[in-house]
Formats: sequence, structure tokens, C-alpha cells
Amino acid sequence: MALMEFPITRLRRLRRNEPLRSLVRETRLEPSALILPLFLCPGEGVRREIGSMPGVFNLSVDEAVKQAEAAAALGIGGLLLFGLPETKDEQATGAWDDNGIVQRGLRALKQSAAVKKLVLIADVCLCEYTSHGHCGIVKRTGDEYEIENDTTLELLAKAGVSLARAGADVVAPSDMMDGRVAAIRDELDEEGFEQTPILSYAAKFASAFYGPFREAADSAPQFGDRRSYQMDGANLREAMREIDLDLGEGADMILMKPAMPYLDVIRAARERFDAPIGAYQVSGEYSMLQAAFARDWLEPQRAMMESLLSIRRAGAGFIVTYFAQEAAKALG
Ligand code: PBG
Repeated sequence: MALMEFPITRLRRLRRNEPLRSLVRETRLEPSALILPLFLCPGEGVRREIGSMPGVFNLSVDEAVKQAEAAAALGIGGLLLFGLPETKDEQATGAWDDNGIVQRGLRALKQSAAVKKLVLIADVCLCEYTSHGHCGIVKRTGDEYEIENDTTLELLAKAGVSLARAGADVVAPSDMMDGRVAAIRDELDEEGFEQTPILSYAAKFASAFYGPFREAADSAPQFGDRRSYQMDGANLREAMREIDLDLGEGADMILMKPAMPYLDVIRAARERFDAPIGAYQVSGEYSMLQAAFARDWLEPQRAMMESLLSIRRAGAGFIVTYFAQEAAKALG
């Protein structure tokens, strides 16, 4: 190895200018691997900025179509759709109703020729639609309560089918109930949607970084927390078991979430599984960067791109991010 040492080897030689750096760059970002989340709300002409997420809006369906067209023009890969229903109840009716807000949004988006370039992914969960904000059916006994697993599965499966029927290209369960991928797959196949892929949020950790999303989607639990169904942040091996089970149940792709605080988990998943893996740079990751940008504490574009690059380098093939449009512009 002696010959390899300094001064023969000088790693700075390949860093001297941008063409050289570009030639030897190991990891790249591209707009088509970015997915933009959208929050659909009732009404017309509504474009309401979310306090804790500058640049992110609750959009009525007509406004969402405009935003989707802009996103398509930038070459981004797809949209992840969430909904704020008119009313909420214990059965999360808005999640599986064919006239639900996301179902209406999907039908409108599918009318736009420009939007055809985007993969429309519908989040499948009950928390935006339940009066209590939990991701499943709540069973109360006296002061105690439990988030019921198996009764929730039926509703998730109904939601998956209803979203596929409305035009979702992919359905993405984010609830963390056991067995939901199999339940959704079964129901999709039974209803003739055997070609609709499932993107499973296989490893979703109970995270403080979802805070701003709960304002955006009005989905904060009214009591308790999500730790009886979302994963403990300390557990990497358990995340591998979750992924294994979801792939076994028929998940076509998996999503890791959050991203930056769990890059090691993304890397471990990439090394172990051959299925396509995405990562979700969640609301809190976005908001903390935005907060620093607002104070001039970080250079916005460089910090944004570095955060996305770290997720890509860890092994994510695609990234769900509120920066999708900004990043696509920067790359364009
Ligand atoms: C709903 C869901 C959540 C997020 C995506 N789907 C919130 C939660 O689990 O509390 C969070 C996304 C984000 O923070 O950007 N189950």
C-alpha cells in the first residue's frame, strides 16, 4: 500500500472543479424520484397555508389540480394524497366513502391530461377521518381504551378499494395495524384491482416529527398517543421484521418514515431487501429546516439538497418530501 500514500495519492485532485466533481459523484437526485404530499380540503378556491409548514397548503380540489399540473411540469414523480373531510366520526366514514374528499380529488386529477405524468398515491389511514384522531377503531371499556386491530382492517381494505376505484395508481397504508397489507390486497383483488400496487409504510416509527402534519391534516389524537401501533424509535431489528411481514403479505414497495432521524434503518433495509424502497422526509424534518431558513441560520437551497441527498445515499430510491417542487426547480 505504500505507493498509494501521500503525495502519490491526493484525493483533492478530483475535487478541483465542478465538472470533475460531477463526474465522480456517487449519488444523484432527480425530480422523477420525488413525491409531493398534498392535503385536500373541501370548498373551492381554497389555498390555506399551514402555520407550521411554510409553503405547504390545504387545497380545495380545484386548487390541487393546479398544483398538480405545476408539479407535473417540473417533472416530479408523483403525489401522495391526504384528505381533510367535512365531518369525522368513529367509523372514519370519510376514508372509505366513494364521495370522500380524496376520492373526489382523484377523479378531478384524473381529468387533467398534464397530471397523467404523475403517479397518484393515496394514503390509506383512518386518522384524518376519525373523530378521535386515532388510526383505527377505538374500543372503550370504562377509562381504558384500545385501538382494535382486526375491525380496523376491514375499513382500511374498504378505503383501499374506494381509492383505487376513484383512480389511485398506488395505495399506501400508513396506519401500522398488523395484517393490513394482506387485508387490502385481498379486497383489491376481489374487486378487480389486482394491478393496483401497494406501497406499505412498513417501518413507521412513533415520532415527534409528525407534529406539523397533524396540524396540516387535522389528525392529532384527542387522547393518548400512537405508541401502541407505531414502532418504538429504538428498534431497528423490529423494523426489518415489519418489512419482511409486509412484503410477505404482498406489499410491492415499502416506505420508511421518518427519514433523517432513521437513516441507519433505511440503509439496513436497502441491504436486506430487494423491493423498491422509498423514504418520507416528514413534516417536522421540513419545518425545522424552514424555521432555520426563516432566521437565516441555514442556506435554504444547499441545506434542502443536502438533506435529500443524505436520504438518497442511505438507500432510498424515492423520497416523499414537502420540498419536492423546490428541489425539482433546483435540479432543473
Ligand atoms: C397518518 C400519517 C401521518 C403521517 C403520514 N401519514 C401522521 C401520523 O402518523 O401521526 C405523517 C407525515 C408527516 O409528518 O409529514 N397515519
